Amino acid sequence: MPGFQSPLRYPGGKRKLANFIKLLLRSNDLLDGEYAEVYAGGAAVALELLFERYVSHIHINDYDPGIYAFWYSAVHETDALCQRIWDVEVKMDEWYRQREIHEQLHSGEEIARLDAALATFFLNRANRSGIISGGVIGGKQQTGEWGIGARFNKPELVRRIEKIGRERNRISVTRNDGVVFLREVVSTLPARSFTYLDPPYYVKGQQMLYANYYKPEDHRKVAELVSNLGIPWMVSYDDVKEIRSLYIAHRSQDYDIHYSAQKRYRGREVAFFSDDLNVPDVDDPARINGRSFRHLEFELTA
Ligand SMILES: C[S@@+](CC[C@H](N)C(=O)[O-])C[C@H]1O[C@@H](n2cnc3c(N)ncnc32)[C@H](O)[C@@H]1O
Repeated sequence: MPGFQSPLRYPGGKRKLANFIKLLLRSNDLLDGEYAEVYAGGAAVALELLFERYVSHIHINDYDPGIYAFWYSAVHETDALCQRIWDVEVKMDEWYRQREIHEQLHSGEEIARLDAALATFFLNRANRSGIISGGVIGGKQQTGEWGIGARFNKPELVRRIEKIGRERNRISVTRNDGVVFLREVVSTLPARSFTYLDPPYYVKGQQMLYANYYKPEDHRKVAELVSNLGIPWMVSYDDVKEIRSLYIAHRSQDYDIHYSAQKRYRGREVAFFSDDLNVPDVDDPARINGRSFRHLEFELTA
């Protein structure tokens, strides 16, 4: 697959929407502006936009302490993090050690940032589908077809992190609740900015994939704040009636997203857009391949 791949694996990662978001930026005179991801996770879209020079600065926010530690260290302590990755042994006894550190972090203990970053990265790369709280690839006895190291190609992963580190002046990393981030950061961005929100899914069950700090009331608060933002935005969600009713006043487009987390999962998602946006007319925002992307982009610039 062309383009930049995030060092973090994310089930349901939104990289498939990257081409659509590039078209959105281009059709709304938002190129070279700032871009904020409120629920960044693997931040795949943000990084692709930055490396391909669609935007000049990205703001990556995630409330999960491990995900935050990883991004902070990747951006600001790049060499130290890469050294830790070179040094760590990708073996089962190390997996137990890293899992322990990760559990301590999530139970509120103070963990040195690089330790938190490494534990998060280690489990994300060693576990099935990147699910931090899930099982290790190959099982604890390591009898599976693939082993713990199957997704742990150190030279390639270090290369990706070093590339991120070289762009540190154009990347801001924060750990705020989404609502706070919208109020305190997004609302202060220059007019030529765009924000993308990919909140935790509304329906429980999906939430096994990553930390979920949201109740229905919080989703409502996000919708309210987003509707009053001063800059253009897009929000994506699982397609359920509760969410549709929160965003009823806005345009929407639904699409299929499929990923394998344990078993193959296929789900319907829906995106909503701020009223000021020209929304590109495409059949499926999650499936714009390289060829049709170049064609659509050419039409917009011609
Ligand atoms: C659906 S995932 C985002 C996936 C991301 N778009 C990607 O492509 O990798 C949601 C993310 O929101 C984070 N999160 C959960 N609750 C949050 C909150 N209240 N504020 C900010 N981030 C939160 C989770 O840690 C998770 O990384």
